[in-house]
Amino acid sequence: MVDDVLLTTPQARAAQAEIEDVRQRTAGLDDNGLDIVFRQARSHNKWLNKPVTDDQLRALYDVVKLGPTAFNGCPLRVKFLRSDAAIKRLLPALSPGNQVKVEGAPVVAILAYDTAFYEQLPVLFAHKDVSPMLRDNPDKAHANAFRNSSMQGAYIILAARALGLDTGPMSGFDNAIADAAFFSGTTLKSNFLCAVGYGDVSGVYARNPRLDFDQACEIL
Ligand SMILES: Cc1cc2nc3c(=O)[nH]c(=O)nc-3n(C[C@H](O)[C@H](O)[C@H](O)COP(=O)(O)O)c2cc1C
Repeated sequence: MVDDVLLTTPQARAAQAEIEDVRQRTAGLDDNGLDIVFRQARSHNKWLNKPVTDDQLRALYDVVKLGPTAFNGCPLRVKFLRSDAAIKRLLPALSPGNQVKVEGAPVVAILAYDTAFYEQLPVLFAHKDVSPMLRDNPDKAHANAFRNSSMQGAYIILAARALGLDTGPMSGFDNAIADAAFFSGTTLKSNFLCAVGYGDVSGVYARNPRLDFDQACEIL
């Protein structure tokens, strides 16, 4: 349902003007933009010895947080592991193949979700408090948190590329071990991991094929 009152507030008018502004400036990413985010970007397995600063991680999150989530719920919570001690604490959770892939990574992010993310909804989705519907239905809340934190994890990968960084996403790890090590006594659960840094191209394999349009899509 479109709420006409909410569409005419000063804040809504400002948001509408912002869209007009960007539409005037560009109709979309150019070829370089598409190449760096999708077409020539790759998942990385080895890392250059080049640090990623706190400011870069903050800039990354500040882009990612604007990606859409259901009810604007923003269930993603991120632990950026940078110290040797923190990364060492994660290693027992990793599959042997992935232990090698985090070696030398300047940052390994645990992309987690807050199963009680709905407690923030009165602020994040203030015009209609839907938090009781999720608080009273843990399965629904969990599915919502997992789905939307996965989307935010994808935004991390794409935003990192857009900001000149590389990533190495990994789901090959024991979530229970990672959760015990990092989220004990909290409402957080790990979703997947993502190394962030500058990829060493000597660790990149040939690109695997993708399904083409007719294999994956249908227009009805
Ligand atoms: C959610 C997710 C989990 C992944 N888990 C692993 C993993 O555990 N180990 C690994 O080596 N690669 C992992 N990958 C990397 C994929 O294999 C890789 O992105 C895919 O093969 C495409 O490679 P490309 O981006 O270089 O084209 C994962 C990727 C994603 C998005």
